[in-house]
Amino acid sequence: MTRRIDPDGLLCPVCGEPLAGGEGALFCGRGHSFDIASAGYCNLLRPGKRNNSRAGDDGDMVAARGEFLSAGYYEPLLDAAADFLMQSGGLFIDAGCGEGYYTNGALLKCADLSAIGIDASKYAAAAAAKGARRLGVADRARYITASLSRMPVADGIADSVLSLFAPCDYGEFARVLRRGGRVVIGSAGARHLDGLKRIVYGEDGARENAPIMHAALAGGAFCEVKKKNVAYEAVIEGRGRIAALFGMTPYKWRSPEAGARALLASDRFATLVEVDFTVLEKL
Ligand SMILES: C[S@@+](CC[C@H](N)C(=O)[O-])C[C@H]1O[C@@H](n2cnc3c(N)ncnc32)[C@H](O)[C@@H]1O
Ligand SMILES: [Zn+2]
Repeated sequence: MTRRIDPDGLLCPVCGEPLAGGEGALFCGRGHSFDIASAGYCNLLRPGKRNNSRAGDDGDMVAARGEFLSAGYYEPLLDAAADFLMQSGGLFIDAGCGEGYYTNGALLKCADLSAIGIDASKYAAAAAAKGARRLGVADRARYITASLSRMPVADGIADSVLSLFAPCDYGEFARVLRRGGRVVIGSAGARHLDGLKRIVYGEDGARENAPIMHAALAGGAFCEVKKKNVAYEAVIEGRGRIAALFGMTPYKWRSPEAGARALLASDRFATLVEVDFTVLEKL
């Protein structure tokens, strides 16, 4: 297995100097060194944050997400995200890339794109890097573990930032984007997974998701250039798939026991998949 990552544009998480090397490890001029894991990602979480068990999704959530997404239920979301990324071209940062379904998928759809996938979870970064190898896009994908609130990448290097179902740090997005670069944000729409919520919370308990006003939250560094609502019906089939979907959502942590049991005993259910995309341009 090659343990290689192009260091261009990556910064030391300790001192902020540019990283060099790339074969087996990345290092800075001040002697800080970071191993590249055999899975193909580099751990650039700052020392002290590395063994934090709350650093990103755990192995079970990452595995659940991988299993569910690989079934193709969210492919229309990948298509929409990839279309937006292609409009800016060049390098995109997938901020909170998870197990890389959208990162690697966009690279597969567009040979002109390259990506840096960033996630706090080492399980996510490892799965994403392995996926890139499997899909033959590893030469255009670099995966690192790092915090989204302090991404170890140089100012202005990205043509776009992708943020799907992940926390947004608009100040960091502005810093890493070139002028005219774009943030593509996808958040759960009002009725996203309404079918799942009806089973878990009952007809009355399944409340709509409140919209997130990204343009207002992002402040003066950006202007909104596009909004798109992607919504479609899906029938989720098979107990394994249903368990995987449940395991990758926050509902896993906040569901009444009886509701969770009812869901996990279902063989199929219909639901809306609904995502609000917002595209912001850096001024
Ligand atoms: C709901 S998942 C979405 C993953 C992927 N974008 C997708 O849609 O499949 C959110 C991801 O953000 C990561 N994450 C959450 N907070 C983070 C932070 N502060 N820094 C880096 N990654 C973070 C988690 O580890 C997780 O992989
Ligand atoms: Zn350093």
